[in-house]
Amino acid sequence: MSAAWADMDEAALDRQLAEAADRFGTPNYVYFTDQIETRLNDLRDTLGRWFAISYAVKSNPNPALLGWMRDRLDYLDISSGGEFTLSQQAGWNPALISFTGPAKREFELRPAIGNGLGELVLESLREAKLADAIAADLGITQPVLLRIAPDRVPRGFGDQMAGRPSAFGIDIEDAAEIIPQIAALPHLRIIGLHIYSGTQSLKPEAICENWRIFIEIYRTLCDELDLSPQKLVFGSGLGIPYHPGDAPLDLEGIAAEIGPDLDAFRALPRFSKTRLVLELGRFLVGPAGYFVTRVVSIKQSRGTRIAICDGGLNNNLAASGNFGMVIRRNYVMHRIGKDQNASLPEEKQDITGPLCTSIDRLGSAVTLPQLNEGDLIAVHAGGAYGPTASPLYFISHPMPSEILVTGGQMIDATRIGES
Ligand SMILES: Cc1ncc(COP(=O)(O)O)c(C=O)c1O
Repeated sequence: MSAAWADMDEAALDRQLAEAADRFGTPNYVYFTDQIETRLNDLRDTLGRWFAISYAVKSNPNPALLGWMRDRLDYLDISSGGEFTLSQQAGWNPALISFTGPAKREFELRPAIGNGLGELVLESLREAKLADAIAADLGITQPVLLRIAPDRVPRGFGDQMAGRPSAFGIDIEDAAEIIPQIAALPHLRIIGLHIYSGTQSLKPEAICENWRIFIEIYRTLCDELDLSPQKLVFGSGLGIPYHPGDAPLDLEGIAAEIGPDLDAFRALPRFSKTRLVLELGRFLVGPAGYFVTRVVSIKQSRGTRIAICDGGLNNNLAASGNFGMVIRRNYVMHRIGKDQNASLPEEKQDITGPLCTSIDRLGSAVTLPQLNEGDLIAVHAGGAYGPTASPLYFISHPMPSEILVTGGQMIDATRIGES
């Protein structure tokens, strides 16, 4: 397999993944902060002219990672009281945090609002009234962003949160009726708007078209509300390659394509002091992580070689194809360690996990050097929506460890299993 899939030298990567497996056991996730830094620099070099960057904690809430991000990213977006606690434990200033989510409850809103949350991203009138009551109780005024759900999302996103009936945000069709009611609440102050309508797109034209929809909505709504916003959040939708043949996004191409629209938008007097924010998760961390599992057993079954591993769907639901994928497709993966003598024939093999269900499958007919007991397999794009987006308790196998490779060190950053 060529080095095209790896941002770092293949042999160096494999040495570190093998060392992590030896020292911390398998299954595990290994996250490389150097790779995240490179991705962040690319984002800043191309889109940083217009946007500050907000990291969506849901994509990877590992505490060591959140701590590492503290002085490097501009904002965090959280989606639960639990994520607020994690961000505080990682030392994040609450004023730099926004809070999204369609079903926020009193028990999580109160501590966030009471501890200086930057912006509450309101998704409904119900939530606005609840937040207003809490803020009144605490004797404060809470800054809020209004999450708007556009009536259109271009084709080309892996998951779509608007443009059809959806639980998220205020439908643009209802904005004229709902927003004045929120604006009238005395303990909330509307300081901007937020849209996140599609994720995981590898199509630059769809991403740019989507942002144009945001710009149009922001322009119109701010005029109607006579709002000169402090902040406008653009849910990025920037996707990452998961499957063989997927091409990574060309950020420079996106910047060249959307730049004139963003320049024209920012030139409008109303937006001269507005901070535009790009909210994203997987783009930053996804390709910087690997899921590593060890082959426990080999079965030759009716002509197919099956490598049965110590981690599967229970640790990496997404790679098993059961996390929002319509048709199951293999993730990019490789066998760790060069076949020194090149003696192992490449062949198509199935790769399964330890669970007693046929959906516990990490790969179907994957072409790899012949796998044997004890071999290590690295599944790529493991830095986002990994352990915390998997049914870790199903069949009660050991939890995967999490390892952060940072500043030349390899540290045990396992959160899972702790509160
Ligand atoms: C409100 C919101 N923000 C950010 C994200 C992060 O998306 P991604 O990891 O695709 O960048 C999501 C994903 O569902 C989301 O719903």
